[in-house]
Amino acid sequence: MSAMRMKILVLPGDGIGPEVAAQAVRVLRVIGRRFGHVIDCAEAPIGGAAIRLTGSPLPEGTKRLAQDADATLLGAVGCPEFDAYPPARRPERGLLELRSLMGVYANLRPVRAVPSLLNASPLKPDIVSGTDLIVVRELTAGLYYGKPHGIFGRGAETRAVDTMTYTRGEIERVARVAFDLALARRQHVTSVDKANVLENSQLWRHVVTEVAREYPAVTLTHLYVDNCAMQLIIRPTQFDVLLTENLFGDILSDEAAVLAGSIGMLPSASLGDVRPSGVRTGLYEPVHGSAPDIAGRNVANPLGAIGSVAAMFDFGFGLKDEAIAIEQAVEGVIARGIATADIAGDSRPATTTEVGDAVCAALEASHARVVDRPAARAVV
Ligand code: IPM
Ligand code: MG
Repeated sequence: MSAMRMKILVLPGDGIGPEVAAQAVRVLRVIGRRFGHVIDCAEAPIGGAAIRLTGSPLPEGTKRLAQDADATLLGAVGCPEFDAYPPARRPERGLLELRSLMGVYANLRPVRAVPSLLNASPLKPDIVSGTDLIVVRELTAGLYYGKPHGIFGRGAETRAVDTMTYTRGEIERVARVAFDLALARRQHVTSVDKANVLENSQLWRHVVTEVAREYPAVTLTHLYVDNCAMQLIIRPTQFDVLLTENLFGDILSDEAAVLAGSIGMLPSASLGDVRPSGVRTGLYEPVHGSAPDIAGRNVANPLGAIGSVAAMFDFGFGLKDEAIAIEQAVEGVIARGIATADIAGDSRPATTTEVGDAVCAALEASHARVVDRPAARAVV
């Protein structure tokens, strides 16, 4: 393993986005110093912040920087100020366009029950204990992008149209991401669809079954989406890799997120193809939204954003030691009870910055141990 030079684009966005992104950047810088990577960070506007500045939720400058960067870290998008705007001009459109532009078709959302946080879960501890799953959500097709879409006609005949379409290729490539992940985990893929009703799901099931033949070591189970929503709260431990299309994945990943105690904890990685440089195209963001109700108060949980930095090193750059260092620092901080209000229980809640301080300090403190490890010696 050798030291790398990396260009990272940071898109703080709206609401709590800038607060959590700031902590993620601090962690990024500590990791850079500790492992000897040269990290160039640029920042650009997206979402409501970009609309205010330029009139567009994804300005040209942001697009150029995202295409040029080795990886992009996002805070969150969305603010109530633009709620009355049509979908095409809302902050969220900036994120949807960015995903499409970057070609990040596989969205990975890992959910793991942390023993010290079992009581923060809305489910009984004995149900949630042992949960370790990853949602693989198709991210650049389906209802979110199908054409035609719009509102047509007038009066009682006014008609809203959204179109769900999938091609074989779009299903195959995301299915391969899920099966590859399963190989390195517990070798089980659950594919979620609505094949009893939708043509899209018929094709989905057919193609996923075909891809599964390339992975004889992996067991494939099909589940209807309504049943899956129920199974997630009845017995979440039955899932390893949960593969599904865009809208189902949006909904199920929020549901799965609360199993871990708080949606504020969860990172995500949106991945495209591997580039000639060997780096996988990726957009990394916490699963939570912009939470305007708590924005600007230094109370948001930064762990989803910090975990997204770990995901960036792991999935984007293939640098596992860096990812593990961050994850261990985060686990240590949680175990010591340094937690924002969403997971603090009855103890005094820490602020966003205090949690960031604690993670950075834990990373710095473990430095001495890491330099002794052979894998890390080459880079420090
Ligand atoms: C998510 C969010 C987005 C989505 C919104 C903000 C457009 O809910 O990343 O899950 O629907 O994909
Ligand atoms: Mg969502």
